[in-house]
Amino acid sequence: MKVQIAGTGRFLPEKILTNADLEKLVNTSHQWIIERTGIHERRIASDDTCASDLATPAARQALESAGMKPEEVELIIVGTSTPDMFFPSTACFVQSKLGAGKAAAFDVLAACSGFIYGMTIANNFIKSGQYKNALVIGAEVYSSIINWEDRTTCVLFGDGAGAVVLKAGTGESGILSTHIFSDGSKWSDLYTPGGGSANRFTPDLISEKKYALCMKGNSTFKVAVKSMADAARVALEQNGLSEKDIKVVIPHQANLRIISAVAKQLGMDERLFYVNLDKYGNTAAASIPIALDEVVRNGVAGAGDLALMVTFGGGFTWGSALVRL
Ligand code: ACO
Repeated sequence: MKVQIAGTGRFLPEKILTNADLEKLVNTSHQWIIERTGIHERRIASDDTCASDLATPAARQALESAGMKPEEVELIIVGTSTPDMFFPSTACFVQSKLGAGKAAAFDVLAACSGFIYGMTIANNFIKSGQYKNALVIGAEVYSSIINWEDRTTCVLFGDGAGAVVLKAGTGESGILSTHIFSDGSKWSDLYTPGGGSANRFTPDLISEKKYALCMKGNSTFKVAVKSMADAARVALEQNGLSEKDIKVVIPHQANLRIISAVAKQLGMDERLFYVNLDKYGNTAAASIPIALDEVVRNGVAGAGDLALMVTFGGGFTWGSALVRL
């Protein structure tokens, strides 16, 4: 038995925030942003839009392409670090909005790695025989945790959602392996300081914008490159494959320079790496499933091809998933 990707979907908010728009908000330039990150524009959700509002249409599209009805879904996992609320889980909101009456639902918090963590959990639930299918979603509204006065972070992120339907199946296609890792000792390189039980909500916390994401860009960059390359290597080694067997690498879309450096470390042609961060920026846990949906729908890779997904995020967390489409 293999766990197969039976359908994919994505949803991006309509509003586009360009680098020129950001030049009006903070002391930055289009030139600096494209040279350092490769990002040209990103999508921003309206103030009254939450993560489940983005997740639900992405999930509907994935179900449609899998030819499945919401009532058939047995498990919903949402990878997000910008949930609708601390609780209930965003997955429960999606369950209700879809009308997926028999599904268990929970969130996974692994920052940008949330989707690959979620896929790993769903893969094992299906392999164990407990569920026949699962909806795995990455959905983020990072615009809600950005300090729009901090030029070092506000240029990097965007909002969006991507989803896959996983199903038990037979044949060659399916998830060949998943690997997930973490190193909590580096938590303070990338985190949101306030609002949790460690640093509770106070009027000062709001006025000092302690709810917003903080990042040490340089050290994050270095660890991201090494970790993503390591995670890719583990996937290839475990499956007895080489770089030449891979049709497309779908990396976390944080920064074009990270992607180039990972390709170089692996000795792979950068053109094998799918890139859409120019359009969407870093959508955290949503970035890989959005890119996967584009890869499938645009025919970048198709049935029988090997797709290698590699991720990295706050925690730090990182990992890979190797899939025969
Ligand atoms: N516009 C203009 N100048 C800027 C901007 C900006 N938007 N941001 C920073 N600068 C300045 C800095 O202040 C600094 O100026 P100084 O030399 O006078 O002090 C200069 O540019 C260089 O800053 P660096 O931080 O050294 O720039 P770097 O080349 O490292 O690029 C960047 C910064 C793009 C953030 C990079 O470090 C990076 O991409 N890091 C990884 C980020 C990442 O991927 N995070 C997400 C991980 S996943 C998750 O879970 C969210």
